[in-house]
Amino acid sequence: MEKKLSVMIIGCGRVAAKHIKAIKKLSSEVELKALVDVSDKAPLKLLETSKIPVSEVKLFTDYKEAIDEIQPDIVAVTVPSGLHFQIADYALRHGCNLLLEKPMTMSSEESRKIYELSRECGKKIAMGHIYRYFPLVDILRRDIASGEFGKVLHGTIYVRWGHGEDYYSSAAWRGTWKSDGGAMMNQTIHAIDLLVWLMGSKPIEAEAMLSQRLRNIQAEDLGMAILRMDDGSLASIEGTTATSDKDHSAMFTVLCENGTICLGLKKGIPSLAITKNGHKRNFHYIMKHISEKGFTSMLHALNPHTGIYADFIGAIKDDKRQPLADALSGYSSVDTLMGIYKSAKLRSAVRLPLEEDFSSVDMEGFFNK
Ligand SMILES: NC(=O)c1ccc[n+]([C@@H]2O[C@H](COP(=O)([O-])OP(=O)(O)OC[C@H]3O[C@@H](n4cnc5c(N)ncnc54)[C@H](O)[C@@H]3O)[C@@H](O)[C@H]2O)c1
Repeated sequence: MEKKLSVMIIGCGRVAAKHIKAIKKLSSEVELKALVDVSDKAPLKLLETSKIPVSEVKLFTDYKEAIDEIQPDIVAVTVPSGLHFQIADYALRHGCNLLLEKPMTMSSEESRKIYELSRECGKKIAMGHIYRYFPLVDILRRDIASGEFGKVLHGTIYVRWGHGEDYYSSAAWRGTWKSDGGAMMNQTIHAIDLLVWLMGSKPIEAEAMLSQRLRNIQAEDLGMAILRMDDGSLASIEGTTATSDKDHSAMFTVLCENGTICLGLKKGIPSLAITKNGHKRNFHYIMKHISEKGFTSMLHALNPHTGIYADFIGAIKDDKRQPLADALSGYSSVDTLMGIYKSAKLRSAVRLPLEEDFSSVDMEGFFNK
């Protein structure tokens, strides 16, 4: 029997529970060896809700000590975003592959460094860009790239991921420029990643505005941006948490010469409308997905982190391929996001990729908070 890959989770909060769910689902291939958190209580609570006996997992409060002792195959980085860089840097230099939550880091330069370090160390990074792991998405991307839908004209996304004051006040780092950013950086970055990936071109210019509508935070609770892509197409982006916390919607549309792809979640419910040459193609693509990837992969929509782990295990075992959401996707999406922030700050369009470092911290004082 093949040896299971060992996993250590650093940061035992909200998203870590999704990682544990995925690890349990894939228990024939991966095993949870250790949990790390600066809080003594957080790992215990996580184990209890996940129904894992404490005796099965080693607990640490210091990530360096934990990595040195356990030397896991995979480190899952699920700490506040402002800590991603230092932990990713340490884990890569100590021989671990990374399942790194989005955003990769808080600055374009730090993200470039992590991307380059992963290549130098020969270690892989799977980003927590959950949308790439939704059913059908990868197949649609390939068909757009092969020209099946004709020329890509433009793309749009809206992310209306409502969060109330209770969410923001649940942890001091949320909504701060230093450790989180706002609705664009936290809730929309992986949607931007998906839109750009589906469109198959690269952003070369960003123009954006940010606002605060409802939430009492440092960063934006509403952002709108337009990207100019290197093939002449345009992408429009709306990201907000200033909606009802019952409204968790993220919709993607790619308009092409011969058809339209529209998919995502509307108030938490999957939504799909694919047309090609005037015909509805939903059923065709669902069947294509099932025949290529199997029916169980449709269920990854319920917890996309299972899809991330399943793909990552395959990529670690296969020298020739990278995960679906790889290190480059982490770097590129942060670069685009920093372009959006910089454009809002300068009140003018910004060229991409950025030539100089821009960090979320450079936004401090933007709303005079
Ligand atoms: N991909 C997704 O769908 C998704 C969803 C939610 C959150 N996230 C990302 O996951 C990350 C964590 O978000 P969350 O909502 O789970 O946060 P959280 O605040 O619920 O949990 C973070 C945990 O990290 C711990 N921590 C803080 N500093 C630490 C350190 N130095 N060493 C070890 N542990 C430390 C905290 O005590 C806390 O338990 C963020 O980067 C966020 O953007 C991704």
